[in-house]
Amino acid sequence: MHQYQNTLQYAQQQDQTDPLRHFRSRFLIPQHTDKPLVGLPLVDQPLTYLCGNSLGLQPVAVREALNRELEVWQNHGVEGWFEGEQPWLYYHRYCKEPLARIVGALPAEVCPMNNLTVNLHLMLTSFYRPTAERSKIVTIGGDFPSDQYALETHIRCRRYEPDEVLVEVKPRTGEYTLRTEDILRTIDTHANELALVVMSGLHYYTGQVLDMQAITHHAHQFGIPVGFDLAHAVGNVPLHLHDWQVDFAVWCSYKYLNSGPGGVSGIFVHEQHHQEELPRLAGWWGYQEDRRFEMTKGFVPMAGADGWQLSTPTILALAVHRVSLALFEEAGMAPLRAKSEQLTGYLEFILRGINQKYGNPIAIMTPANISERGCQLSLLVERRGKELFDRLVAEGIIGDWREPNCIRLAPTPLYNTFEEVWRVGEVLEAFYSGSKG
Ligand SMILES: Cc1ncc(COP(=O)(O)O)c(C=O)c1O
Repeated sequence: MHQYQNTLQYAQQQDQTDPLRHFRSRFLIPQHTDKPLVGLPLVDQPLTYLCGNSLGLQPVAVREALNRELEVWQNHGVEGWFEGEQPWLYYHRYCKEPLARIVGALPAEVCPMNNLTVNLHLMLTSFYRPTAERSKIVTIGGDFPSDQYALETHIRCRRYEPDEVLVEVKPRTGEYTLRTEDILRTIDTHANELALVVMSGLHYYTGQVLDMQAITHHAHQFGIPVGFDLAHAVGNVPLHLHDWQVDFAVWCSYKYLNSGPGGVSGIFVHEQHHQEELPRLAGWWGYQEDRRFEMTKGFVPMAGADGWQLSTPTILALAVHRVSLALFEEAGMAPLRAKSEQLTGYLEFILRGINQKYGNPIAIMTPANISERGCQLSLLVERRGKELFDRLVAEGIIGDWREPNCIRLAPTPLYNTFEEVWRVGEVLEAFYSGSKG
């Protein structure tokens, strides 16, 4: 058990010995320009940006990478697809190996493409194959709204009623998070009627990581395919999608993968499905690459995940993605996770100190068990929650607010520091002690 200390000196020491400390300078940290009420003077100081769970920061190298592609466009026009050191035609390939390492997959199992909700529909098209006996889907209640809307409308398109098809697992009364046993039992109860299990791997609101391996293994015993939305998990927690035998997954890259607002999404399709004739919605970019421009009738998919591509990719988005993936290659998921556990553990320690001193004003919804969480802690602040959030913002601490009373703080290991987490504690202390600093 780590012996944390709530002192500036301790936090700075942790930063000095952090093997990943130099990665912070590879990001552009937004600056604070207002005068803070308490703490260190912040004018022209970087914000304490704890919002990588929503939009990751911009890597410094992005601008140059974009300029490079703009120059190719300027100098070569359409020939940019085929010419130069990195022809646009193969751009998705440049991302596959680093992506595969991040999600624990074979390169052929992953492909960057589209945006998350689009990809979820594409995967539902392929993996939701209802029959007269088996048409139900196990999911989690209160999953991210876009996923709920995707499921609801997708089910209607298949001429089923969402209320009859969806089986939602929810936290027990009085609990914030889901129990694996409840998910497994729900699968047992409905096993003979189930066509699919699909849910977030890391819950956006509570920060809980589900036991994806156990859920997949369990559903497979009944021949039920399993897919995960990894928006909050990718680049945040260790994933072994291939070994866990997950059937499919989708994610976005604008959170922990720092690939810019609306950045390109990605899919995983397990290799065991690559030879199957799955139903799919196709487009020309999924057609065999070497014959794509022959413009012939009859769709022939590329092998593996690439065969699910639809449209001409957004090269500028892929260029940004590549820059960020290169940072992950350099840092490595294992060291990032090791730092992440320490950093979020430090935030938890600081919050517990505040709770002890001030009569538990902050409930931490995220599991205390490290293997059940990523870097985000979700705080339920029943009293003066919005006031506290506004105070944090005024002090240059950027988390996010979810109605009615949840503050999400996500210290990310690529660019956040122990000193920043310590500062959160200083602001909380001032808030609850009533001091103006
Ligand atoms: C868990 C989860 N799923 C889906 C989405 C929606 O993704 P997109 O807007 O890229 O389709 C988000 C967006 O934040 C998300 O957090």
